[in-house]
Amino acid sequence: MNIEPKVSLLNSLVFFQGNDMQRQITVNLGNLVLSLSDAMDLADSSLIQHQQRTAFVVWEMGKAVGFSAERLEKIFIAALLHDIGAFSLEEKISLRNFEVKSVENHCIRGEILLSNIPWLKDSSKIIRFHHRQWQHWDKSIEDPLVFESQLLSLADYLEREIDRDHYILHQHEEIISKITSLSGTLFHPGIIDLFLKVSKREEFWLDLVSPRLYALLLNEGPFRKVEIDFSDLSLISELFRNIIDFRSRFTSTHSSGVAASASMISKAFGLTETEIGLMEVAGNLHDIGKLAIPNSILDKPDKLTKKEMAVIKSHTYYTYYVINTIKGLQQIAEWAAYHHEKLDGSGYPFHCSAGELSTGARIMMVADIFTALTEGRPYRKGMSKNGVVEILKGLSDRRLLDSKIVNLLFDNYEEIFSYVTEKQAAAKHFYQNQFYFLHNQS
Ligand SMILES: [Fe+2]
Ligand SMILES: [Fe+2]
Ligand SMILES: [Fe+2]
Repeated sequence: MNIEPKVSLLNSLVFFQGNDMQRQITVNLGNLVLSLSDAMDLADSSLIQHQQRTAFVVWEMGKAVGFSAERLEKIFIAALLHDIGAFSLEEKISLRNFEVKSVENHCIRGEILLSNIPWLKDSSKIIRFHHRQWQHWDKSIEDPLVFESQLLSLADYLEREIDRDHYILHQHEEIISKITSLSGTLFHPGIIDLFLKVSKREEFWLDLVSPRLYALLLNEGPFRKVEIDFSDLSLISELFRNIIDFRSRFTSTHSSGVAASASMISKAFGLTETEIGLMEVAGNLHDIGKLAIPNSILDKPDKLTKKEMAVIKSHTYYTYYVINTIKGLQQIAEWAAYHHEKLDGSGYPFHCSAGELSTGARIMMVADIFTALTEGRPYRKGMSKNGVVEILKGLSDRRLLDSKIVNLLFDNYEEIFSYVTEKQAAAKHFYQNQFYFLHNQS
């Protein structure tokens, strides 16, 4: 067997595996929403599956009342994404523990984010009111928006009442009586009756806390089998890009920058339109695993301690884990998740060798560093071209980054830089107009 010396691999580019990339990607809607919902709740052991469990409850209640397939799917998706507007891990935890002062902000943010995607618009309305108490509604329960919001509200409340350290059937009666006591105030009596009906079976409670809930929802959940195409995939990747970036005002445009530079470098490299589009999706999602990292670490202005760095190292692991569970996006999972790898195997957390790093991953590695260097941080300004070139050249000379890709960036520097700046300005504009005033007010 002829084993190529490592050094020649460093300078050669590993091309996409042709045919696979040429076809248009389609992804199952249910699979996508479920995996992204899962990602949002990875952050803390007290949150794992919070939205999935909430979705399970609304599904059971919706079935019991005889919802149409379409209505069931809308509320199910709303439940899976209902806390999407709670940006920081700290906010999510305080919501779950009933400790947050104002619940309004995350509802408003959730509605703004989802209303940008046509097929999520109806679900966004339900999310807007998922904390509204029955006694504060001035509309009839017959109104579908009121009915759905009340269902979601009860399901969310119920999930938060569960003590994760105790066996469910040793606490379910207490939870039932607590919820029943809220009839007429937090919840409409008819909604309580519905809940009593579905919660009679032990099976309901055992399913609710089952570690295999993801598989149950994926295989049997009320998703019509909708395959979404590239343009919808792109929209939802932008939605998640926003929730990743808007968690911290300091990095509120980072993923926009990485997606923009990755797509520009891909174009300079000569990739096809489809590949360039998919690289943009991968760029949007490359830091999705940061949803599992607390803001106290992400926003820290000083150098991270060794322990904090060890926590940071998990973010690309989660990026891979989340995207890889979406059928059809396995290749994108690699491009997105390998951005902290190095060609000599010294990156983290996978320690990929050069041979394992495809062109897409190599481009993402360069795009991520380029964007981070050109962006400002609380403790430093964005770097000038000379500074960026010096650092990237150093990394490529040490054979940590692919020199051909770094050179492509240098050759097209002005064009790439101005495109990235333009994209980041648009993201900043959206962030400042819609979200800045809501930040840290919760
Ligand atoms: Fe909430
Ligand atoms: Fe919630
Ligand atoms: Fe990263």
